[in-house]
Amino acid sequence: MQALIRRLTESYGPSGSEDQIRDVVRGEIRGLADYVTIDPLGNLIAVVKKKAKSGKKIMLAAHLDEVGFVVSHIDAQGFARVQLFGGVNPLACVGSRVRFADGRLGVIGIEARRDDLTKVPAVNELYIDVGATNAADCPLRLGDAAGFWRPMELAGRRLIAKSLDDRIGVAILIETLRSLKQTPHEVAFVFSVQEEVGTRGAGAAAFGLEADVGLAVDVTRAGDTPNGPRMEVRLGGGPAIKVRDARMIADPRVRELLEQRAREAGLATQREVLEGGSTDAAAMQIARGGMPAGAIAVPTRYIHTPSEMVELGDVQACVALLTRFLQRPIEL
Ligand code: CO
Ligand code: ZN
Repeated sequence: MQALIRRLTESYGPSGSEDQIRDVVRGEIRGLADYVTIDPLGNLIAVVKKKAKSGKKIMLAAHLDEVGFVVSHIDAQGFARVQLFGGVNPLACVGSRVRFADGRLGVIGIEARRDDLTKVPAVNELYIDVGATNAADCPLRLGDAAGFWRPMELAGRRLIAKSLDDRIGVAILIETLRSLKQTPHEVAFVFSVQEEVGTRGAGAAAFGLEADVGLAVDVTRAGDTPNGPRMEVRLGGGPAIKVRDARMIADPRVRELLEQRAREAGLATQREVLEGGSTDAAAMQIARGGMPAGAIAVPTRYIHTPSEMVELGDVQACVALLTRFLQRPIEL
């Protein structure tokens, strides 16, 4: 699974520019589903058809896009100013490397003559340097988008990579599709676009699919760092089952069924009570007439920086839990 996670996290795909990562995922799932479509917004949807009359229609979602930058201005010296796609952590920007669609690298710099050098950088104080010497020489155009660039690295049982949010969810969906030998349900694996700019892809996909139950697989914050966020989630504690986040209250029946399936399989889980941020499940829950929805979250440190960190055991447990959930009856 590590090689898969490497291919996914090292792919390019800021919000709205998901073509490259979508092609990678399409290659990984070839031959595994009954059919695969790309909807008008760009969501990649792989469907495993229903095998039993009692089966439900399940929508799973993991987002293809990563947080990023879009060029909004190029100055006379050839430095690019940017706007953000998603909640990029400004403290993680200075000195970071970014990559554009054509593979071009850039370095993020910051105006050195700021009023207060101790302040958190504002986006308009940052710029991207691609090695140009003047505007005419700058290969960038307005609207070009970039994501962070960093290769995946291993630290013991933990992985460090850019865009584990949410390529780790994408990897979990792919591995689940691979290990799902039989299921009574119709399962739509949705690899969604534009999550980081407001769960746009999943909302449209949920409306179109009209599923009975929805589950997002995404990352959540971990509280196990020095003076970390006050939440119980920790790396190595197993899949985090969502209770609430900033935009949704998970359906308690979905949450309890996930916890029950985990207990049956002897898998440890944690409960996620998240104050800020959300997932595709928030959009799925209120699509059309509404649907029972929940989320499985991978405990993750340093979210929206170029060095996000997860533990492999948690990731494997997410695959085991999701596979079991889909193989068993779903009565809410
Ligand atoms: Co995110
Ligand atoms: Zn995410």
